[in-house]
Amino acid sequence: MMPKATKSRQRHHRRQHGPGERPKVINKLIEHRLIQRVSYEEYRAKVRDVYGGPQGAMLAACSMISLHTTLGERLFQKRKFDLAGLRNILDVGSGAGQIARHLLRYADPEARLTCFDLSPEMIQRARNRVKSDRPRFVVADLMHLPFADDSFDCVTCGYVLEHLPDAALGLAELSRVMAPGARMLLLATEDNLSGAMTSRLWCCRTYNRLELARVCETLGLRWHKELWFTRMHKVFRAGGICVELVKQ
Ligand SMILES: C[S@@+](CC[C@H](N)C(=O)[O-])C[C@H]1O[C@@H](n2cnc3c(N)ncnc32)[C@H](O)[C@@H]1O
Repeated sequence: MMPKATKSRQRHHRRQHGPGERPKVINKLIEHRLIQRVSYEEYRAKVRDVYGGPQGAMLAACSMISLHTTLGERLFQKRKFDLAGLRNILDVGSGAGQIARHLLRYADPEARLTCFDLSPEMIQRARNRVKSDRPRFVVADLMHLPFADDSFDCVTCGYVLEHLPDAALGLAELSRVMAPGARMLLLATEDNLSGAMTSRLWCCRTYNRLELARVCETLGLRWHKELWFTRMHKVFRAGGICVELVKQ
């Protein structure tokens, strides 16, 4: 008879793969490896180059084609992630201002918006796209944030953690600047086939959902709820990891 632990490992393994996905070994072969091969400084320079150049100029269009823009819009519009009552919102790695645009539309008018990105070029693109002087734009690295402890009651972090060698380093910084009870919308590339392909395109890594949840919990960020719209969305895991965290 198969030991219980093995059965549960097998069940766990099956859960990692959505329909039509291949075994993880294929994902591992496809996934970009630079982040594991070089120092963080070298990798960060590469990320700046990728987003500062022509690929970064196409980011907004890529987000529309991949339906990430639609996913973000629906999250806020349907109040799956409710922005009501929030006063001080931090948008991490704001890219071309994809999430900033939703925040301008759905956050309370008196909410303060701060958007930061590693790439000065992306900050300029975000400014051009949001066409509003309401958000404060800052060039900064998620690993060393220029913000005081407990200063935000909300963080939105869309597809940025995958540019860190270790999620814990960035999440610890975010936890530091979040006030107790503050909420975070976290979107991240998952360790499945579509995540592996994304990782190739943007030179980033992927995360295992259960491992990431464990890291969050150890940092006092409660894995409050996973945000799914429909059963199909959950089965296909469209948009990767999409979760609301709460700072304890
Ligand atoms: C895939 S884009 C995400 C854009 C947007 N947040 C969204 O949800 O679509 C990743 C962005 O994170 C930025 N980024 C990567 N590493 C970063 C870091 N260590 N600190 C701050 N921003 C970073 C990149 O410059 C890029 O603009």
